Amino acid sequence: MVEGTDSGGAGARLKYGLVGGGPGSFIASVHRAGIDMARSADIAAGCFSRDAAKNMMTGANLGIDPGRIYPSYSEMAEAEADRPDGIDFAVVTTPNDTHYAICGAFLENGIDVSCDKPLCLATEEALDLDRAAREKNLLFMVTYAYTGYPLVRQAREMARGGVLGDIRIVVAEYAQDWLAEKLENSKDVWRTDPARAGISCCVGDIGTHIENMVHFVTGLEMDELSAVLSSFVEGRRLDDNAMINVRYRGGAVGHYWPSQVAMGRENGLSFRIYGSEGALEWSQENPNEMRYAKRGQQPITLTRGGYGLGRAAARWTRMPSGHPEGLFAAWANIYEAFCNTLKNRSDGKPQDELEIFPTAFDGARGVKFVHDCVASGESGGAWVDASAPGRF
Ligand SMILES: NC(=O)c1ccc[n+]([C@@H]2O[C@H](COP(=O)([O-])OP(=O)(O)OC[C@H]3O[C@@H](n4cnc5c(N)ncnc54)[C@H](O)[C@@H]3O)[C@@H](O)[C@H]2O)c1
Repeated sequence: MVEGTDSGGAGARLKYGLVGGGPGSFIASVHRAGIDMARSADIAAGCFSRDAAKNMMTGANLGIDPGRIYPSYSEMAEAEADRPDGIDFAVVTTPNDTHYAICGAFLENGIDVSCDKPLCLATEEALDLDRAAREKNLLFMVTYAYTGYPLVRQAREMARGGVLGDIRIVVAEYAQDWLAEKLENSKDVWRTDPARAGISCCVGDIGTHIENMVHFVTGLEMDELSAVLSSFVEGRRLDDNAMINVRYRGGAVGHYWPSQVAMGRENGLSFRIYGSEGALEWSQENPNEMRYAKRGQQPITLTRGGYGLGRAAARWTRMPSGHPEGLFAAWANIYEAFCNTLKNRSDGKPQDELEIFPTAFDGARGVKFVHDCVASGESGGAWVDASAPGRF
């Protein structure tokens, strides 16, 4: 059995500034909840909305010093960099088209960054951010937060550690139904607007989670992919469903299905991984259990916090087994890893091998994946190069 190991809050708490998260917004409050649960950092500054009244109101509700509620992200980056007690990192939770400029402003001012996905609209932009962060020795996390679940960490330890043998087949999906109808008059209308969301809606929004999850767990590198993108809702300018086949280096094959029009499906991110020695199946909607089949034996269910798990899952298990842990704990885990790595850097210590989190380069992989899928889709599903982007 794994005891709950809630080790958050070790050492001094950091300070962060939030961009986005105005009234009615979605993901910023999840970032804040994760950071609060990790007890690694406190919010100290923000630029929550381009609307001045909403900006001030949100900052006041969060108890932020009015002098640190900024009218623009660029003023925030400059002013916070100049303060002796300035923020340690910026959290960027705005729509996709703004990430590049906002993250760039904080990096330019020497501030570490956590940004949501998809990282940028163009692969070159994402690689630019990766390069800028490396050149300045700054940390950059992209919040593919589903990688924070303890059983996902367990799957990674098993798959990358050879327990499954040679991986042969990956089947992964992320099925939702919230775009099964038109979005007019919704605050989310930007998600189907190419100017704001980029060249893809469904692949960019949730297909990227599949791409990141499969790579995080298996380490498989894509060689080629073939994609059929559809836009089922009349008048929609971007895809709302994709069927993607993948060939990986070394001979494994995969199938990814992201959909936002799968009626009755809510947030169905799941993977099935089949190797020569065993197989794993996990689903985000039931994250405390994972099916493991070892060759020649009856499949068993691994439980979060239960018997037989490895170091990676133990490190990120907060509650004893049987007490369901969920999404906020997964976010807390990636934020705790990020903040501990920031603290280690200040203390001249290396990153702990278990305290890993998705990086800007992972973000760039995701952006290239989106472009590869769209390129294939536009060529009638032709196989296209899907290798990782060149780093420098
Ligand atoms: N990791 C995940 O699982 C996950 C889940 C949902 C959304 N996302 C990503 O998070 C991002 C935000 O999505 P959302 O659904 O929260 O969007 P949203 O539309 O609900 O919220 C965006 C917020 O950003 C503010 N904003 C926009 N431009 C700004 C600017 N220049 N300065 C300050 N504030 C600004 C808006 O006023 C709004 O409050 C997107 O990139 C999306 O893809 C990730």
